[in-house]
Amino acid sequence: MTKNNRANFGSKLGVILASAGSAVGLGNIWRFPFETGNHGGAAFILIYLGCVLFFGIPIMVAEFSIGRHSRANTAGAYQKLAPGTHWRWVGRMGVLAGFLILGYYSVVAGWTLEYIVQAGMNAFAGQSANDFIASFNGFIAHPWRPALWMAVFMLMTHFIIVKGVEKGIEKSAKIMMPMLFLLLIVLAVCSVSLPGAGAGIEFLLKPDFSKVNGNVLLGAMGQAFFSLSLGMGCLCTYASYFRNDTNLPKTALNVGWIDTMVAILAGFIIFPAAFSVGIQPDAGPSLLFITLPNVFQQAFGNLPWLAVILSIMFYVLLALAALTSTISLHEVVTAYLHEEFNLTRGRAAKLVTVGCTILGVLCSLSLGIGKELTIFGLTLFDLFDFLTAKIMLPLGGFFIAIFTGWYLDKRIVWEEVSNNGTLPKVVYRIWLFLLKYIAPIGIGFIFINELGLLK
Ligand code: PFF
Repeated sequence: MTKNNRANFGSKLGVILASAGSAVGLGNIWRFPFETGNHGGAAFILIYLGCVLFFGIPIMVAEFSIGRHSRANTAGAYQKLAPGTHWRWVGRMGVLAGFLILGYYSVVAGWTLEYIVQAGMNAFAGQSANDFIASFNGFIAHPWRPALWMAVFMLMTHFIIVKGVEKGIEKSAKIMMPMLFLLLIVLAVCSVSLPGAGAGIEFLLKPDFSKVNGNVLLGAMGQAFFSLSLGMGCLCTYASYFRNDTNLPKTALNVGWIDTMVAILAGFIIFPAAFSVGIQPDAGPSLLFITLPNVFQQAFGNLPWLAVILSIMFYVLLALAALTSTISLHEVVTAYLHEEFNLTRGRAAKLVTVGCTILGVLCSLSLGIGKELTIFGLTLFDLFDFLTAKIMLPLGGFFIAIFTGWYLDKRIVWEEVSNNGTLPKVVYRIWLFLLKYIAPIGIGFIFINELGLLK
């Protein structure tokens, strides 16, 4: 794949699945539940949905337009559309965000591999909730085991990336996504039928707005950007491989609702089960890993073989969902190095893999032997998460909205968004209004509010 002869996604379904594959991942199944738990439940979810609808989807359409029109990596895209300006820094910040996210995300992705093995060895059998907590905490603090799994995961990502866009990314997404969706539905049904699950369902559905503060708003906004893979040029890079007849608004809506459905389903798996066995909803990043084994044990306790099969399946699919996301993160940085620095694709990919593996080892160690080493009171792992999800991605989204809504020639925008002129004008106007005013003002408000300037 050279600069002038860039690859494309082969089919319409492939486009949606690859983008949805990027969006759906640990962000939905691991991060969404623990952020919801940390921020009080239903009210957080409602604000999250608002962020998806009013900021997320409009900005996704904008990212798609920038990517497809420029047919370049995310930094190159701004260079093409706004040559000689500082806009390219928006793309560069995205590349940096992708690099940092991949560094800590692959650590969690590595945890899923460990849990596949544990599930396969039937290690969950006969254990209590406290045992799960103890073994998870012991595992992530281990000096080399999680780091090793992280490296394995990074190699898997590397392997698919070097195989290229259509063969690697598209094919893998086509098989994994529907399977994951199905299994999530099965598990959600199991979870809500556990004894005492009602309190968890209430936690998900009964909003308590008295707990909403600046932190909750920032958390919900960050989660929306993170989960939709927005604000860092990831979907912009993918859109550079879209075909000209890909319908951008429709693709964005599809990705948006698939991503949201998976997150909500994950909520319906985690919280009923957590309340059922007395795990605190604000347990943080461990929440998924200490709750899920309970679901398998409790729901299938008297069918142990089924518990083993379903738990292996779940962690395999979770790992695959993470893989379609790490691929997309890796692709952002690889495409950038490949096209901007004239490196071969293989060499660019190697650089990214080595760099992110080093970051990953550091992040992994920061949860164990390096726990005392904190920056602004956060471990490296938490710092990368905070910096990217809550600062860099929303900031990137803010600038993407301004760029597309205010700067970019409206003929280009209409050409990309209108799907050969078939988009109703009123829909286009509503979208443009959201992009020009609602998204930037909303994001700006949440930032300023969090800084405490509005008190
Ligand atoms: N959206 C992915 C998830 O929810 O797991 C994570 C992610 C992928 C974030 C790609 C950002 C990105 F560019």
